[in-house]
Amino acid sequence: MKKRKGIILAGGTATRLFPLTLSISKQIMPVYDKPMIYYPISVLMEANIREILIISTPRDIVGFKELLGDGSKWGMHFEYKIQEKPNGLAEAFIIGEDFIGEDNVAMILGDNMFYGNNLSEILKCANEREDEATIFGYYVKDPTAYGVVEIDDSKKAISIEEKPKNPKSNYAVPGLYFYTNDVIQIAKSIKPSQRGELEITSVNEEYMKRGKLKVEILGRQMVWFDTGTYDSLIETASFVQTIEKRQGIQICCPEEIAYRNGFITDGELLALSDKLIKTDYGKYLKDLAEHKIELF
Ligand code: G1P
Repeated sequence: MKKRKGIILAGGTATRLFPLTLSISKQIMPVYDKPMIYYPISVLMEANIREILIISTPRDIVGFKELLGDGSKWGMHFEYKIQEKPNGLAEAFIIGEDFIGEDNVAMILGDNMFYGNNLSEILKCANEREDEATIFGYYVKDPTAYGVVEIDDSKKAISIEEKPKNPKSNYAVPGLYFYTNDVIQIAKSIKPSQRGELEITSVNEEYMKRGKLKVEILGRQMVWFDTGTYDSLIETASFVQTIEKRQGIQICCPEEIAYRNGFITDGELLALSDKLIKTDYGKYLKDLAEHKIELF
């Protein structure tokens, strides 16, 4: 199988969260018990992607390096690159050209959170699709703040628009994209939009034109949040808190995924739990390492 690398784009100025983000990155802020970026990292890890490029601003990249290091503690490999200006999501593939090399790539936005029963199967399926791109469709009440995809009866994409005033469907396109290696050339060939950005939607349109775009609908059991406003930030945190307290299991915990996927051993997990042992998070990792939580 062709290898797939991952990119997390954690740039931008997050003006919709001012003054919270005047001095720190949105994607490092807490979503209940973990920094926001742990959530998208977990998604890529669930897809079995082990090499990740983290792209952020000149100001914020330092914080991410300090938080995540080279990834080896989670059996991962992290690299870092700077996006000088918010020139659009598609620029990530130009910035990441050397990192991607000859491989396929998945990108997730640093503020997107996914949670659901069959998420890892859906991700693994998208990962295994080697010759086509995969994007997702998620039914929302008001899709005007998102990319919007229109699909026909056979679930084929027939149109994709970025933040349309009059959306043709209720299917928002979440910030998670699986692309072939061609995405580097596609990103270089598209023109900036009216707001001066290289839009991810233009990349998706190009795949659609080539007949190489698969749209997977995320069902109603799936949870998708993007945490770009005060309200969505607290709603996501409350969701995580509610489920974690009720079930006593972690949502999007990179250490747990690393362990379950065999990236780290019991002993390594136990060592990671040490540092966090004053928290329920740390105790959970310890219980996992000591086999006190049944694997399912
Ligand atoms: C971006 C994309 C949009 C996508 C959204 C998902 O928008 O441009 O197509 O639906 O992420 O979070 P942004 O949130 O950067 O405005």
